[in-house]
Amino acid sequence: MRAPRIVVFAGSIRTGSFSASLAALAAKELALMECEPVLLSLADYPMPIYDGDLEAAQGVPAAAKQLRDQLAQADGVFIATPEYNAGLPPLLKNAIDWASRVQGGEGDAFKGPVYAIGSSSPGGLGGYRASMMLRQTLALGLGCLVLAEQVMVAGAAGAFAESGDLKDARAQERLRAVMSTLIEQAALRAGLRA
Ligand SMILES: Cc1cc2nc3c(=O)[nH]c(=O)nc-3n(C[C@H](O)[C@H](O)[C@H](O)COP(=O)(O)O)c2cc1C
Repeated sequence: MRAPRIVVFAGSIRTGSFSASLAALAAKELALMECEPVLLSLADYPMPIYDGDLEAAQGVPAAAKQLRDQLAQADGVFIATPEYNAGLPPLLKNAIDWASRVQGGEGDAFKGPVYAIGSSSPGGLGGYRASMMLRQTLALGLGCLVLAEQVMVAGAAGAFAESGDLKDARAQERLRAVMSTLIEQAALRAGLRA
């Protein structure tokens, strides 16, 4: 039986991004478990800002189709989002919006895999408000199954050790627990386990 494929990416491509650190740590933890983690960067999926006229004239960008295919081939997806003005960063929302416009292709990028959410912020709320907006977009907007369990990293500027792990042992344990549930639910959803 194959291992569940878990796609992981961050909603930031900034050098030194905290959400990229969270995504990398999630992928590292997943690699220690029974699954096939695939760490993506939205830097490899450049897309213009969504515009209906652009879509009508040129269609959906190739990068949106490629991202959509990555999601459709996944059994589980972990997205680590930053928080901008109490909401989602445009990079992430734009990528999701474009991917949602792709017609056809094998599988279903949003109703296929099970999704889990992570957020981080240098502030005290750990990107909580962005995580809620991501949950709303995925669950209400796109009909995704989103795990109730999520990871939030507050004080992100000082939260990661040199090793990439979270300095706070309980936070690290929480991340592991969410990844473990994600694998379990991804395997169930993909019919990999009875
Ligand atoms: C336009 C903008 C708005 C921001 N708004 C918030 C906010 O509402 N809450 C918050 O905790 N941090 C906010 N920040 C700070 C980000 O959390 C911080 O820049 C973070 O490092 C971005 O994520 P990254 O490290 O993954 O790139 C904002 C940053 C920018 C650029």
